[in-house]
Amino acid sequence: MTERIIALIERLSAEHRLSEAEYAELITCPEAAPMLSERAVDARRAIYGDAVYTRGLIEISNICKNDCLYCGIRRSNGDVARYRLSPEEILACAEEGYGLGFRTFVMQGGEDAHFTDDVLCGIVGAIKARFPDCAVTLSMGERSRDSYQRLFDAGADRYLLRHETADAAHYARLHPPEMSFTNRMRCLRDLREIGYQVGCGFMVGSPFQTPGTLAEDLKFIETFKPEMCGIGPFIPHHATPFGDRPAGTLGQTLMLLSIIRLIHPSVLLPATTALGTIHPRGRELGILAGANVVMPNLSPTGVRKQYELYDNKICTGDESAQCRQCLDRRMRDIGYRLVVDRGDFKTI
Ligand code: 5AD
Ligand code: FES
Repeated sequence: MTERIIALIERLSAEHRLSEAEYAELITCPEAAPMLSERAVDARRAIYGDAVYTRGLIEISNICKNDCLYCGIRRSNGDVARYRLSPEEILACAEEGYGLGFRTFVMQGGEDAHFTDDVLCGIVGAIKARFPDCAVTLSMGERSRDSYQRLFDAGADRYLLRHETADAAHYARLHPPEMSFTNRMRCLRDLREIGYQVGCGFMVGSPFQTPGTLAEDLKFIETFKPEMCGIGPFIPHHATPFGDRPAGTLGQTLMLLSIIRLIHPSVLLPATTALGTIHPRGRELGILAGANVVMPNLSPTGVRKQYELYDNKICTGDESAQCRQCLDRRMRDIGYRLVVDRGDFKTI
């Protein structure tokens, strides 16, 4: 590693920012990974110690009006058996999750017109009433500002909406013409202004991604200052236009986790299921590179296989309790502990 790269990492650790050109330089230097992860782990440890937060993910619907080119549940994939959970089924998942020690529930789904504001507010309100000590996170795609406001008023605490790429031209190559980068960014700004804890994020190794677009992603994250940031490798899904593209790599994903930790030392950063899918110890390696959140699946086992955004997704055959225990053990094995806590963002 050159003196220059060492100096860049020192400056990133101290000042939490670099220029886009410098981000691109760092990303393209794999030898920087060990020093980046060492600094990232130090930064995280100073704020969160050895705690790993956990969120129970409930995949409430795989019905989606969108046709994102990378996604296995895009509307034009006719091979998917579509499902949506009833409010009772969602509550039952949360009930089971509460018993397993989850204090945050993430409801994620496609953009399914069935989930009107009234329907979704009813579910959010019911979860908050039943589990007042829990946080509710929504990950239900693009909605109007008024809709986000109503869901917030109904009790939703956090919202995850990956920006997917901060480069408008790149965005246009990953999405059909009817989807707009401008609207995506509008959503993120509305969510922020309303008062949500907001999560953005992107796939590592998505088709047409370059060091330049990744540098734009990092600059966006640096300036938007999300409370959460979801990144994981792109993994091809066989029934999509990107079915024969290569997956994102473990090394690059880990390096980006470390850089994002250094940009925002207190960010909530999951070691994602996609990372666990491309490598058997992907999630552990993610934590060791600076992540501090895991999001095991609480969806009913019967539908898990149907929420397949990419091929070979892990944990689709396991019970919620198995995933919880599995992750407990995996974290203990690397010297961390899963905590029973809402796992709120810490301001420093
Ligand atoms: N590989 C990895 N991640 C994917 N996502 C969608 N499709 C894929 C894929 N093929 C991610 C997107 C989306 C999130 C819910 O899942 O970034 O925002
Ligand atoms: Fe699901 Fe390991 S986390 S089986």
